[in-house]
Amino acid sequence: MKPQESPVTHPKTLPDLWRAEHPITMLTAYDASFARLAVEAGIDVLLVGDSLGMVVQGQRDTLSVTLDEMVYHTQLVRRGAPHALIVADMPFLTDHGIDLTLRNAGRLMQEAGADMVKIEGSANKAPLIRALTDAGIPVCAHIGLLPQRVRQLGGYKVQGRVSEDAGRILHDAEVLADAGAQLMVVECVPSALGTRIAQSIDVPVIGIGAGAGVDGQVLVMHDLLGINPHPARFVRDFLRGRGSILQAMQAYGEAVRNRSFPAEHEGFV
Ligand code: KIV
Repeated sequence: MKPQESPVTHPKTLPDLWRAEHPITMLTAYDASFARLAVEAGIDVLLVGDSLGMVVQGQRDTLSVTLDEMVYHTQLVRRGAPHALIVADMPFLTDHGIDLTLRNAGRLMQEAGADMVKIEGSANKAPLIRALTDAGIPVCAHIGLLPQRVRQLGGYKVQGRVSEDAGRILHDAEVLADAGAQLMVVECVPSALGTRIAQSIDVPVIGIGAGAGVDGQVLVMHDLLGINPHPARFVRDFLRGRGSILQAMQAYGEAVRNRSFPAEHEGFV
């Protein structure tokens, strides 16, 4: 007898994303209630970002976030969004050395229920991405501005404005895509560079402060809701003028899909 086709209970898979015809919408979530709302609003991917150190815990940067905290928050998000595609950040210093990285990424997948882990770094993270991919753990690479390097950088500064730096970031993208990264977040680079990266690699490129010429956008939830007291230039308050958080999330999704967000003045040159 022909096996019955089971109904699609998990509509957002990585292959779905690669086939997506519209720009991909990604939003951070840190708990069950907001995760549920984001799914209801039609957001494609939930990111449990280590930005939780700043927007949830009130820390000055993301460096103090622990793997246990990431596991905990990812569990909450998974509970609120049982069928969503969830990416969980590997926090500071948890992705060094292949054994440690595999063990830590494994916890985010097995204990917390993530579908994919995100690793900040440059081309030097290629061996780790290859090892994770070989082990069956999908990886989202994060290039451009690396908040985990804020102490080295001396602040959250736009990256890739000088042509040598732009070339290095483009090289990072190509090397990490070759190593097996299946999604790529590009943060705070000139819009022209964001577009160039998206055109150079097959992996979907999700921008944050990288212009509208990429394959999707990600925003930190608190920025979308206008409750960050020091919003960056690339942020838009989608709650302003709308009656509910759900409507704000829907407006964000719509603006990403019709490429009206980010506008030119919300990008960098
Ligand atoms: O931690 C986070 O929320 C992130 C986004 C800014 C992309 O990495």
